[in-house]
Amino acid sequence: MRISVSILGADFARLGEEVEQINQAGSDWIHVDVMDGHFVPNITFGPNMVKSLRPMTKQPLDVHLMITEPQRFLQPFVKAGSDYITFHLEAEGNPAQTISMIHGLGAKAGISVRPGTPVEELFPFLQMVDMVLIMGVEPGFGGQKFNMDTLQKVRVLKQKLPELLIEIDGGVNAGNIAEIAHAGVDICVAGSAIVGQPNYTAAVSALRSAAQQ
Ligand code: DX5
Ligand code: ZN
Repeated sequence: MRISVSILGADFARLGEEVEQINQAGSDWIHVDVMDGHFVPNITFGPNMVKSLRPMTKQPLDVHLMITEPQRFLQPFVKAGSDYITFHLEAEGNPAQTISMIHGLGAKAGISVRPGTPVEELFPFLQMVDMVLIMGVEPGFGGQKFNMDTLQKVRVLKQKLPELLIEIDGGVNAGNIAEIAHAGVDICVAGSAIVGQPNYTAAVSALRSAAQQ
């Protein structure tokens, strides 16, 4: 199980120190939540944030675009140093085209669905993407409660395509990560379960040991 730490709940005034703590914490990826105030009712940051983060960590930057027109911003986000670009199936634009644009720019492509979107809608794109991101909460805010029903989507996808990389995002904590792991999830995004906790290393270890239960 890989852990991708969401910086959404970080103290942005001291982001460098936060990333340094994440680098030492024993996690695997850094998850960057990009929100535009249209696709979701919250606003975060743009490509310049990725550019500033890039030299601060060796970990892959796992960029989650919660924006209405992802195609407009693929190039600036890849140029800034994103490794994975995940966009939403529900956003505007032809998903197959968005995936090939991401690949053409040299990044890995992920596709995501909100909790209410049926998993079957992803089927036409599974062979094209490097990763599927299943939302465990309505996108927009950290610290929400994980919707266990969304694990059914993971089971369906793993049965259909066992080698497909599956990431889950929203509400992951030490109390539910074992069930999430059993469903077949490969990467867990964790925000409030790590960032904002007194000790990031201890928080990552707690998640890892709980995942093995
Ligand atoms: C929600 C974001 C998630 C979330 C993770 O819109 O995509 O990455 O903030 O934070 P927690 O783990 O606190 O739900
Ligand atoms: Zn996210």
